[in-house]
Amino acid sequence: MIFTVAIDGPAAAGKGTISKAVAARFGLRHLDTGLLYRAVGARVLAGDDPVTAARNLDPDELDGAALRTQAIADAASRVAVLPEVRAALTDFQRAFARLDGGAVLDGRDICSVICPDADVLLFVTASPEVRAERRYLELAAKGSDVTREGVLADVLARDDRDMNRAEAPLVAAPGATVIDTSELDIGAAVEAASAVVALRLAARAAR
Ligand code: CDP
Ligand code: CDP
Repeated sequence: MIFTVAIDGPAAAGKGTISKAVAARFGLRHLDTGLLYRAVGARVLAGDDPVTAARNLDPDELDGAALRTQAIADAASRVAVLPEVRAALTDFQRAFARLDGGAVLDGRDICSVICPDADVLLFVTASPEVRAERRYLELAAKGSDVTREGVLADVLARDDRDMNRAEAPLVAAPGATVIDTSELDIGAAVEAASAVVALRLAARAAR
């Protein structure tokens, strides 16, 4: 069975948390596509050329824990504006979506560019202040040297870069169900997404 759940949204909206929970609940694979861009960003911070780094990326060797820093997030959003970088990462993402058994992919352009024909399209969002506070708590808990003001500035700068770039800008794709998690705790956000997925799976089964 090929069944694809595509999830887009801005930084720290809850995409990853929802994706992991939905994947576990429905027995689907999960790909955090942000890690691909973060890995390229990390290579650029180490002095590599972005396009060469994207073409040579080994997606099986992504270390999520090491890649979730503010500096790497910023570098990721800078390489993400480059069409050649995006093109180099496209085939892997589309192939992942078509693996037998079904998959959840989350990122910025999954509904709009990578998997526009996905079975479920979701746009997960929240206010910038709520997202920045969540990301601040997450980074502070890991021992990162961050301030609330710094994290909010980073989130706003990335939102601006991600939404206003020419190539694959972040948008709520036509037909996507919008889930605003500003007032939802994790459990409620996961339930909202799961309800959409369950409806779609039931419709598939009835065909
Ligand atoms: O993947 P994305 O950057 O969109 O967000 P995430 O990594 O899933 O969530 C960012 C942080 O917000 C995590 O620490 C989550 O536990 C937290 N979160 C929350 O407090 N309430 C939600 N409804 C969703 C996420
Ligand atoms: O976890 P968070 O939402 O903060 O960021 P991420 O999903 O790890 O993505 C890091 C950066 O990669 C984003 O700010 C985007 O610039 C870029 N990205 C993208 O352009 N397209 C995707 N499908 C995923 C991420």
